[in-house]
Amino acid sequence: MNLQALTGTAQALVAPGKGLLAMDESTGTCNRRFAAAGIATTAEMRRAYRELLLTAPGLGACISGVILYDETIRQARADGTPFVKVAQDAGLIVGIKVDTGAQDLAGHPGEKVTEGLDGLRERLQAYAGMGARFAKWRGVIAVDGALLPTATCIEAHAHALARYAALCQEAGLVPVVEPEVLMDGGHTRQRCQEVTESVLRCVFEQLVRQGVALEATILKPNMVTAGLDCAVWDTAAEVAQATLQCLRRTVPAAVPGIAFLSGGQAGEVASHRLNEIHLGAAAPWPLSFSFARALQHPALDIWAGRDANRAAAQQALLHRARCNSAALKGQYGAAMEVP
Ligand code: 13P
Repeated sequence: MNLQALTGTAQALVAPGKGLLAMDESTGTCNRRFAAAGIATTAEMRRAYRELLLTAPGLGACISGVILYDETIRQARADGTPFVKVAQDAGLIVGIKVDTGAQDLAGHPGEKVTEGLDGLRERLQAYAGMGARFAKWRGVIAVDGALLPTATCIEAHAHALARYAALCQEAGLVPVVEPEVLMDGGHTRQRCQEVTESVLRCVFEQLVRQGVALEATILKPNMVTAGLDCAVWDTAAEVAQATLQCLRRTVPAAVPGIAFLSGGQAGEVASHRLNEIHLGAAAPWPLSFSFARALQHPALDIWAGRDANRAAAQQALLHRARCNSAALKGQYGAAMEVP
């Protein structure tokens, strides 16, 4: 492992004013989103959509890197240029989702564990050979009152995330470690904070125990928010305060950056909360974004599978990227959303 090179990549991913575009939806997830938008669920439409995202003019001004999916990293622009080269030419660092998805955790109804460790060493080498410089693995943790998550579920995710991260660094890739406490359910912000703190403590314990270099690891956590069905709506200031308190209590200062997932928050809500986080007291790590839905949703709706809508869809993507970039400087406000 070349720790200096890996640390340099990690720092570049969270460069000032920049964040990650997660466009690594699995074929199943991408097809579900296409179907909801009335778009044909074919490999060619998935390719065309990913081309639209990657070729949005000037994307690199606000986006440091893109997370691709196995199908996508092997695809090319309509003129035959491989997507990896398209991304590199646009100044974007190429990343790759390497987990193979969530499966039911045996003996633990309602809980999931992430698969994909078998053969991971070889897959990481192959992706590095294709030009990937970082990877992503997501573990999802459900909250159900005081019942879930179980300690077993948290430990299983932490163990898998650390095994994945160690293999990434061995292969010369920066691991993006994503333990996601889900927003599904009626739990309060306080319960989300309690669970997120437990999860992050366990994840960092495993990362250290398995010899992962924290200096070359990016954390991709959820913001601390109430569940989607909670009767109480958190203000952005409350989310920012709880999120920063949670992270300060659990994330070592050696970590070079934290990039939040959006987790189903609407684009404007995510930008507003991100902005509020940056208005708080200085944190020991750069705090950035690694959004999929909160960056892509308006663009996907506008595109609707039609080439004629392509330029407008790209503008919608760029708008959300600019809003989130502004939020990283505490400069996002409602005025940015006025057309
Ligand atoms: P969302 O921002 O839509 O939560 O997606 C982030 C991601 O990469 C999920 O793994």
